[in-house]
Amino acid sequence: MKPLPSTLTRHIIRSQAAHPGATGEFSLLMAQIGLVGKMIANDLRRAGLVNILGTTGGTNVQGEAVKKLDEIANESFLKVFQYSGLVCALVSEEMEKPVHLPENWPTGKYMLLFDPLDGSSNTDVNMPLGTIFSILRHDGKGLPTEAEMIRKGTKQEAAGYIMYGSSTMLVFTAGHGVHGFTLDPEIGEYYLSHENIQIPSRGRVYAVNEGNAKKWPECTRKFVEYLKASDKQTGRPYAGRYSGCLVADVHRMLLGGGLYLYPAEVDKPEGKLRLLYEANPLAMVVEQAGGKASTGTMRILDVEAKSLHQRVPLVIGSRDDVTLAEDFMLGVR
Ligand code: AHG
Ligand code: MN
Ligand code: MN
Repeated sequence: MKPLPSTLTRHIIRSQAAHPGATGEFSLLMAQIGLVGKMIANDLRRAGLVNILGTTGGTNVQGEAVKKLDEIANESFLKVFQYSGLVCALVSEEMEKPVHLPENWPTGKYMLLFDPLDGSSNTDVNMPLGTIFSILRHDGKGLPTEAEMIRKGTKQEAAGYIMYGSSTMLVFTAGHGVHGFTLDPEIGEYYLSHENIQIPSRGRVYAVNEGNAKKWPECTRKFVEYLKASDKQTGRPYAGRYSGCLVADVHRMLLGGGLYLYPAEVDKPEGKLRLLYEANPLAMVVEQAGGKASTGTMRILDVEAKSLHQRVPLVIGSRDDVTLAEDFMLGVR
């Protein structure tokens, strides 16, 4: 009899065995994130059938229109984690303040920061979407204060994303490489399909919303023009691929190489993406796979976090491609 290929459950039990002091809480936390992924994937699959497409009419803390599915995905996290006893704080793109956990209920040592539904403009057009999560650890007594949740990216315990594409994948790192699991929807189990992912040191693809080019500083425009110029020796022009979903674009780069940018704009130097639950977790994943993540001028994981919903410019992907972008943005080229 052939054994099953490794499942998420088996993988986390095995990794736990490699850490003698482990209590098993982290393993449970990862399994519960897998469950949230199944719930969201299920809602996305049925969205067009049960009238949960479109917007709620409200706006979130970022002033962006909230999609019904943004709210549903956020609620899935709350339903699974509020009474799980595994976390002591939940921070989400969709909630201005960290959620209050029920009183007189056990809490765990982990803080979970997440973007429940990334790329939500894709919901109504049947395109890929994602979920991004960052896991921090609270070592102090009692519940953490908001200030204790605002940490720089190097302080993450683990991070990852779920991608809802033609299949659902969970990709994460706990600081020892990056592993990808594909959901078998028939039996509801994730199988290890991509072990120890290594991002190519250079790619030939770039992802950026080029409709914003006129808002970029000159150095960024010059860099993107460089990528588009023909040069056989350096493998240019690069191909442009932009899905409107950061997770899907970063996933493409992680497997095939290249870079994703949401750069600073002259009138919006802070960029668009959020540091704590978009840039930091993806930066940890990409660095663990041998890639690089930068603001354009410094390493993302070294950015001092000041507020929960802080934004940051992001250039992420293959090491050499991101370094090249930095050379342009720092004016070295
Ligand atoms: P979210 O749906 O969580 O707000 O994130 C959207 C992000 C990201 O996924 C995507 O790459 C980018 O914003 C798209 O923004 P533009 O429409 O400005 O290109
Ligand atoms: Mn997002
Ligand atoms: Mn979102």
